[in-house]
Amino acid sequence: MKVLAIALLFVAVYAKHEEYAGYKSYFVGQKNQAQQHALQSLENEFQLDFLGRVTSSQETLVLVKPEFQAAFTKSLKAFGLSYRVHADDVVKALQNDDRIIEEVVQEKARNGGARIPYDNYQPLSVYDAYLDDIARRYPNVVTLVSPANSFEGRPIKYLKISTTNFQDTSKPVIFIDGGIHSREWISPPTVTWAIRKLVEDVTEPDLLERFDWILLPMVNPDGYEHSHTSNRFWRKTRSATSIALCRGVDGNRNYDFAWNTVGTSTNPCSDTYGGPTAFSEIETRVVRDILHENLSRMALYLTMHSFGSMILYPWGHDGSLSNNAFALQTVGVAMADEIFTHSLPNFPRYSVGNSLLTIGYGASGASEDYAHSIGVPLSYTYELPGLNAGMNGFILDPRFIEQVCRETWAGIVVGARRAGDLFVPHP
Ligand code: ARG
Ligand code: ZN
Repeated sequence: MKVLAIALLFVAVYAKHEEYAGYKSYFVGQKNQAQQHALQSLENEFQLDFLGRVTSSQETLVLVKPEFQAAFTKSLKAFGLSYRVHADDVVKALQNDDRIIEEVVQEKARNGGARIPYDNYQPLSVYDAYLDDIARRYPNVVTLVSPANSFEGRPIKYLKISTTNFQDTSKPVIFIDGGIHSREWISPPTVTWAIRKLVEDVTEPDLLERFDWILLPMVNPDGYEHSHTSNRFWRKTRSATSIALCRGVDGNRNYDFAWNTVGTSTNPCSDTYGGPTAFSEIETRVVRDILHENLSRMALYLTMHSFGSMILYPWGHDGSLSNNAFALQTVGVAMADEIFTHSLPNFPRYSVGNSLLTIGYGASGASEDYAHSIGVPLSYTYELPGLNAGMNGFILDPRFIEQVCRETWAGIVVGARRAGDLFVPHP
């Protein structure tokens, strides 16, 4: 019986990452812009999945299908690009990550409780229970809102945190969301950590006195669940919007800002599919509605992504600057500097700048740009750190989750105070 159970478990785990059978991942070192472009030019030909940004300053991690590996490495050689194998067997690397995570999940289950442990990545149910639990325990300052269900019917939940139940309309509002890209698992815990720091473990009481907060840790619960149960690198929503068999829309290409113009795809099978129309996704409509409902007093909007250690601001589709660029840069640098003082020596230092110029590619339909375009004065995409261990990048080593949450909170604290200083109510 026991043997059968173990055998079944093995089969289940194996089946889970089956679609990556034979895949390898490589580190590629591109030393200059020409090599950077050369590497980028191979993306379509070899159906590459870049698990990070391609820049000339650091190695790129690339996921390569079995049938293209030989030709891919041959092309790298032809371009004079150096490379080394990162995971010789991606399935094994993913199974290894699963095992580490499962051990801690089991241990936590034995200890019970709705609190979020920050020593590992958590299943969706833990986030759900946590939001319910906080709302129940702190009814004077916390209101749980479930405005809609996701495509697959899961509640999209957020917390409004306020000393006046949002009644004092002279207070600026700060809105932080996470988890729009489901595989970026480090994103949601940085948002729940902010909840914790505002109500459970308060060390900056001014932040709750001065602002109303909206915290939405899991914009895309369907994708998150999918990235846990079947496809670790799932980025999009799970909607079925076209006759194509492929599902999902890239939430961060689905906003109505220069929608469907650059850095996005009309192919439903692409990871950057912008959707059949802007705001085709219920998940992005929920975020849109929060922005509009609170627009007149929205001082700061942050959307948490990973990875790359960057703080990005508009405009991300064409690299031009908004009228508020000086403030965006100043507050961005203040946040990054603060993070740096709380960071670890092995973490890369944050860079701050215009989205396109800093991340190296243009993208339309992003939430940070949309928020700014409708009038949110300070709007940023955080690309949180990703460090090398296991299938690194999207799986930041669980040992560093709490560190990233702590340093990110330090950045949020500074960003909030600066945003408050600069805030002028808008009509
Ligand atoms: N990594 C994020 C994405 O690809 C960054 C987007 C920032 N770009 C922008 N246009 N705001 O979705
Ligand atoms: Zn992202």
